[in-house]
Amino acid sequence: NGINEAFEYAKEVIEKGIGGMHRVLIEEKVVGEEFTLQAFCDGKAIYPMPAVQDHKRLLPNDKGPNTGGMGSYSHKSGILPFMNVDDYEIASNILQKIVDALRKEGREYRGVIYGQFMLTVDGPKVIEINARFGDPEAMNVLPLLKNNFVEICDAMATGNLTNKCIDFEAKSTVCKYVVPNGYGINPKEGMEIEVDEESIKGENALLFYASVNEKNGKIYTTRSRSLAIVGIANEIEDAEKICECGLKHVKGDVFIRHDIGKKELIEKRIKHMKMLRGE
Ligand code: GLY
Repeated sequence: NGINEAFEYAKEVIEKGIGGMHRVLIEEKVVGEEFTLQAFCDGKAIYPMPAVQDHKRLLPNDKGPNTGGMGSYSHKSGILPFMNVDDYEIASNILQKIVDALRKEGREYRGVIYGQFMLTVDGPKVIEINARFGDPEAMNVLPLLKNNFVEICDAMATGNLTNKCIDFEAKSTVCKYVVPNGYGINPKEGMEIEVDEESIKGENALLFYASVNEKNGKIYTTRSRSLAIVGIANEIEDAEKICECGLKHVKGDVFIRHDIGKKELIEKRIKHMKMLRGE
C-alpha cells in the first residue's frame, strides 16, 4: 500500500528469517500507461523516434500472462493519444541524461537506446532501458524512417549523428503479432502457417517474419511469436483496418490480439490517463 508498509513487511521477514544474509529489494509500484521511446544515439546526443505503445498481455483487454509483446501502435503526431508533448520531452530528456551519465563514466554508448516508461500522474517513470530496438516497436517506426538506415547506423558508430537530419513520415501505424496457439503457456510448435505474401502486399500491409521455420517451402510455428503484420495510414483507425486486412491472408493454428489499435482500447487508455490526472 505504501513504501512504509513495504519497509515494515521487509523488516518482519528479516526478523523472522532463519538468519544469514538478506537482501531486500523494495520496488515502487507505478500506475499509469506504458509507452516506449526509442532513440538513435551517437554517444553524445539522442535522436528520439515516434513513441509507441506495446501490449504485453496475451489476451484481449490486457488479460492473461505477460508475453514478449502482442502488438503495438503509434500515432502520426509522434506522441500517443494519452500523452502530451511534455511527457515525450521528459522521456527524451531522461534518455539523454542516461547517455550523458554513461559518457561521463567513460562508457560512451553508441547505438539504439530503448526506454520503456510508465506514464504516471507524476510524469514518465523508467521501467527499463535496453541497448536495442523494441520488439514489436521497431516494426512501427522503421517503416516510417525517411533516411537511409545504414547511413544512420554508420553515423551512430562513428559518433557523427549530429550531421544527419533524421526524419519520420507523419503516419500512424498498427502492428499485430501472429503467435502459435497456446503461446505464453504451452505453444503449439511445428504447426503449418499459410502466409499469402502477395495478397498481404496487395492490401498495402507489411509482413515481418519472426520465429518460424521453413521446410520445403512451407512455414511452421516455433514456440515463439511467428510473424507480424503492420498497417500504415494517416489515422490509427485506418492503419488498424489495413493490418486486419493483411491478417486475413495468414491461416493456421494461431492466435492474434485483434483488439490492438482498435478505437475502444485506445479510448480506454485515454480515459485511464485522464482519470489518473483527475481531468
Ligand atoms: N517490447 C518490449 C521489448 O522489446 O522489450
